[in-house]
Amino acid sequence: MIGALRSTVGVVSVGAALPERVVSNEEISRRVDTSDAWIVERTGIHERRVAADDEFVADLGARAAEQALDRSGLAPADIDLVVCATTSPDNFFPAAAVTIAERVGCHSAGAYDLAAACSGFSYAVAQAVSQLQSGLAQHALVVGSDTLTKVIDPDDRGTCILFGDGAGAVVLAAGAGPETTVGVELGADGSGAEHLFVRALAPGGKFMEMNGREVFKFGARVMVDSIERVTRACGLAPADVDWIVPHQANRRIIDHAVKKLGVEPDRVLMNLDRYANTSAGSIPIALEEAWADGRVQRGQSVLMIGFGGGLTWGSCLLPWAGNGPDGGPA
Ligand code: COA
Repeated sequence: MIGALRSTVGVVSVGAALPERVVSNEEISRRVDTSDAWIVERTGIHERRVAADDEFVADLGARAAEQALDRSGLAPADIDLVVCATTSPDNFFPAAAVTIAERVGCHSAGAYDLAAACSGFSYAVAQAVSQLQSGLAQHALVVGSDTLTKVIDPDDRGTCILFGDGAGAVVLAAGAGPETTVGVELGADGSGAEHLFVRALAPGGKFMEMNGREVFKFGARVMVDSIERVTRACGLAPADVDWIVPHQANRRIIDHAVKKLGVEPDRVLMNLDRYANTSAGSIPIALEEAWADGRVQRGQSVLMIGFGGGLTWGSCLLPWAGNGPDGGPA
């Protein structure tokens, strides 16, 4: 699916929540046969955050959502829609989004989860944009939250080095700013399902299984292709975008895309060195950091690109239409 439209929908605020516990590469290398040097060279990851045993997707998601909501200046009752992108929810049901809506006081919102693995945040933003654009909703709270470390075999060096836990959230609003071109591209290729999966009720084990090489090739390809497609649909070139916020899977995948696309590296947000791959949380966590230090400013364009299990991918290009961290216009 691909499309672009003139719209007043924009991002008005962002929040993030990370578990306290830091797990370094060195700590992992005490359990499995790997090393800090190998992990840094192949992935760019130095450390990650790991949720406590009693800390789940809805807990992190609610913290991120509350921060985004506070920063939006809106009341909880103003939110019409709460979507939580996750593939590691606490429960099959109720959806994590319902728990999050309850905890942050969004009692007049519809709430549901959306499962598209590491592309989930892009998919959820695309959903929310459609509902805002159609007039069904005025304000949407979109959360990306995952605790994939709970479904990773701590003895599998192919996966345990790559993932961390965390959540991020944005508030999107219709009429948030002047009309701009908003673009979305979503894709799914089920023929690659075997390269990255976690079973639920199907028999055969509870841990993530991954073919790292195949997923690497897929990620490197779709990150470039999807950014090209969505910017073209908006009548832009990749270098015209103010901020590219890629899924934080592997530094080499991002570096490859930067080179191929000819974009300025400092326009591409990266924080995987500290948080690793937080799945649906990774894009809003990176965006939050860049907003908090004043980089992302009102009127600038933000291109979020996610990819992962499914295999799936998704890009959303929309404006930052909110205030800066000091509360005033950015
Ligand atoms: N530490 C040390 N050695 C490791 C290792 C680790 N953690 N993991 C694999 N190796 C070894 C392999 O066994 C292999 O050894 P061999 O040559 O003796 O067979 C060697 O390193 C190279 O393995 P390979 O799988 O080709 O490494 P790679 O350069 O592809 O890096 C990943 C492995 C997992 C880091 C990389 O494939 C990757 O990041 N893939 C994308 C994964 C991803 O992002 N998933 C989520 C997407 S949402």
